[in-house]
Amino acid sequence: MKCALVTGGSRGIGRSVCLKMASMGYYVLVNFRGNREEAERTLQQIQETGGQGELLPFDVSSREQITGVLGGWIEAHPNKYIEILVNNAGIKDDGLMIFMKDEQWDQVMRTNLDGFFFTTRLVLNGMLIRKYGRIINVVSLSGLKGLPGQVNYSAAKAGVIGATKALAQEVGRKGITVNAVAPGFIRTDMTEGLNEKELQAIIPVRRFGLPEEVAHAVGFLASAEAAYITGEVLSINGGLYT
Ligand code: NAI
Repeated sequence: MKCALVTGGSRGIGRSVCLKMASMGYYVLVNFRGNREEAERTLQQIQETGGQGELLPFDVSSREQITGVLGGWIEAHPNKYIEILVNNAGIKDDGLMIFMKDEQWDQVMRTNLDGFFFTTRLVLNGMLIRKYGRIINVVSLSGLKGLPGQVNYSAAKAGVIGATKALAQEVGRKGITVNAVAPGFIRTDMTEGLNEKELQAIIPVRRFGLPEEVAHAVGFLASAEAAYITGEVLSINGGLYT
């Protein structure tokens, strides 16, 4: 059975990506860290639309949990193969660098950058054996442009962009593509505190994006037809920055 693993699938962009993967016929592994109730809602929505999947709770900032839970799942399911990996889980913890605490730096790097590395390395083996895979990393406008107050987050996302380009070259001949999507302002819990009315003035499309619009792009990169696109970063930002 072909599976799609979506990290941080309990809400926001991750939930929309889970639903997109289900609509493409994948058995969806809905990863989450703490919010089981919301993750169950994602799974319920998958099932309501005729899809299938299961919850796979682990903290992407913990290499022990990734190895234990995800590694354990892979070992226990030799007939299920993760064909699509969407590294979506992410956090921000903003502040000017001069005031930034060690913990703010460490946790943002661990979740956004280390999480990508340890999750992807585990899943890669199965893709290499089967000579097919799609890896899509959810990065950010911050990782391309850099945003003040987000030195930690910009560095982590830029790190994932570099890794996307490097890994794409390592595994291209094995039928695996590695791409990133870079959202601008998307209406989720992460942007809840922002003033959309004020910010939309600087966005050419004049509004925040929707999680479904990011999921649509992820679905495209995850399709078999996107086989000749790899090492690419696709901006989804309403024209805010190119
Ligand atoms: P969100 O805060 O609504 O969702 C984040 C998801 O990641 C949640 O499901 C959360 O449980 C999960 N998560 C956080 N830490 C985790 C951990 N240690 N282990 C497992 N799961 C964890 O945010 P949103 O907006 O849906 O963000 C999704 C991705 O999109 C993130 O990587 C974020 O950086 C990125 N992004 C979001 C933008 C936006 O405007 N909302 C803009 C650019 C990038």
